[in-house]
Amino acid sequence: MKKFIMNLIKTGMLLSLVACSSQPAVKKQVSEEEEVVQVEKLDGEKIAVVYFSATGNTKEVAIKLSEELDADLYEIVPSVAYTEEDINYTDDACRANREMNDESSRPEFEEIPEVEKYSTILLGYPIWWGTAPRIIQTFLETYPLENTKIYTFCTSGGSGIEQSLKDLQGLYPEKKIVNGKRFGSSSKEEVKEYLQEIE
Ligand SMILES: Cc1cc2nc3c(=O)[nH]c(=O)nc-3n(C[C@H](O)[C@H](O)[C@H](O)COP(=O)(O)O)c2cc1C
Repeated sequence: MKKFIMNLIKTGMLLSLVACSSQPAVKKQVSEEEEVVQVEKLDGEKIAVVYFSATGNTKEVAIKLSEELDADLYEIVPSVAYTEEDINYTDDACRANREMNDESSRPEFEEIPEVEKYSTILLGYPIWWGTAPRIIQTFLETYPLENTKIYTFCTSGGSGIEQSLKDLQGLYPEKKIVNGKRFGSSSKEEVKEYLQEIE
């Protein structure tokens, strides 16, 4: 009986030793898994600032936003650059005006690699004749962006962003175009205000 009890104790000790020795391994496995999940999460929440800018105003805001958010920055670069003449909107026949008067116009742009991997995109553009330039339509039609939340921002001579937001939401109801703000400047205050709004 004494021997039996001793054996039980020994077996118990052995079992608890096994349990002890297996604990760290189990823990390690879980924490590795957690690490993987975390990395995926971080990656899944990546933000990009994507913008088109003909004279640099929207670009300035885009750079500030990307810096503030530590987000990746992409420019929508037209395949054929806009010259000064092209955007001289006092001339009815300038390229920009012709594009805006033609609903089917889709100015081409240089491909943006991996833009689909972002869960949030801040999309910036100048206001042209009250709305977004046609090249923004080309961008939105080029990439499905099914799982991407799209916040817009713009610069302008005074017009608000509302009309362009309404137009884009109407044209692409399948996309999650959720919000927009016009920037009067690229000041820290305006940038912060926008980021607070979209957060
Ligand atoms: C073709 C064209 C049309 C424009 N139409 C408007 C407009 O309707 N309302 C407005 O406030 N500004 C208008 N602007 C001015 C631009 O929106 C403004 O200068 C903007 O900040 C330019 O941004 P960018 O430097 O990023 O190109 C127009 C500019 C161009 C070239």
